[in-house]
Amino acid sequence: MVKKQMVDNLSLNTKIDDIFIIKNVEFRVRRDKRTIDMFFKIADKTGEIEAINWDVSSDKVEELGKIEFARVQGQITKRKIDRTLQATVSSLIKTTPLNEDYSDYLPQSKENLDELMDNIFSKIDSIENYHLQNLLKSFFDDPEFAQKFKRAPAATKVHQPYLGGLLEHTVNVVDICETVGNIYKEMNRDFLITMAILHDIGKIREYAYDKAMEHTDEGKLLGHITIGIEMVDQKIKSLDSFPKDLELMAKHTLLSHHGHFEFGSPRLPSILAAIALHYADEMDAKVSGFINIKEENKDFKEKWSKWIWWLERSIYLDEKAILKNKINEAEKK
Ligand SMILES: [Fe+2]
Ligand SMILES: [Fe+2]
Repeated sequence: MVKKQMVDNLSLNTKIDDIFIIKNVEFRVRRDKRTIDMFFKIADKTGEIEAINWDVSSDKVEELGKIEFARVQGQITKRKIDRTLQATVSSLIKTTPLNEDYSDYLPQSKENLDELMDNIFSKIDSIENYHLQNLLKSFFDDPEFAQKFKRAPAATKVHQPYLGGLLEHTVNVVDICETVGNIYKEMNRDFLITMAILHDIGKIREYAYDKAMEHTDEGKLLGHITIGIEMVDQKIKSLDSFPKDLELMAKHTLLSHHGHFEFGSPRLPSILAAIALHYADEMDAKVSGFINIKEENKDFKEKWSKWIWWLERSIYLDEKAILKNKINEAEKK
């Protein structure tokens, strides 16, 4: 069976009848202290919308609270002031997703992930420092780690928030660092590239990306920097004679890569590679996030996007049309 209705195709008054992910379930008891309403979201790879199942029988609460996928019947009944839609659901029946790899339900990278993994492996082969290459291999020679690294998202919102996003982001950061290393001859290329590959490995445990993409409890409680340090620490302990000073530099670079205390780094970048990695990371996160906003707004009729909280600004959406016109004019001359 093929999924016919996608969240981004739903509009006001559309009748809903398809299989969706059920998430963020919350039950609220009305003032009469008896009637229970179920508030939740229905989602697939194209997005999510709010849904309400009014007047749920109390003996169904436990069962409904555990549903991951359901055949949902109902209708889009409301468009809120912020233009988001709300569905009123009349029937919710637990089921299995329509495809085993959840490809209709989780957003996916458009890149060829096998090629990107090959890119990472050839970078690892290019590392000449024995200890650094060994450290990288201790992670990437483990098929379970490699599989998770290939599937994890880079984030749940903002930049590369889809399966394969972590791999895409890592390859971009590595490529930026490679250029940085070519410009500044003082930079130790092996160390910078190693840290670029490892900087976000904690994300394989910060997020769940099996059936739904969300933070894990570990991710919420510790965050990917702390998880990453723990992973690197464990590997270094299992390696033979990894130099202590190199271990400190690697850990410092990993934990300072967000560059600011308020963004979760407990130390500010204090070595050359750490400052380079921080800006390479920031560059890809911001540029990729920007591209994401433009893609999401491609059908938006206004010149300026809505307010983007993480950029603290609206972005100008017309640049492509202007640049294209100027290029065409130049070609005619
Ligand atoms: Fe990070
Ligand atoms: Fe990153």
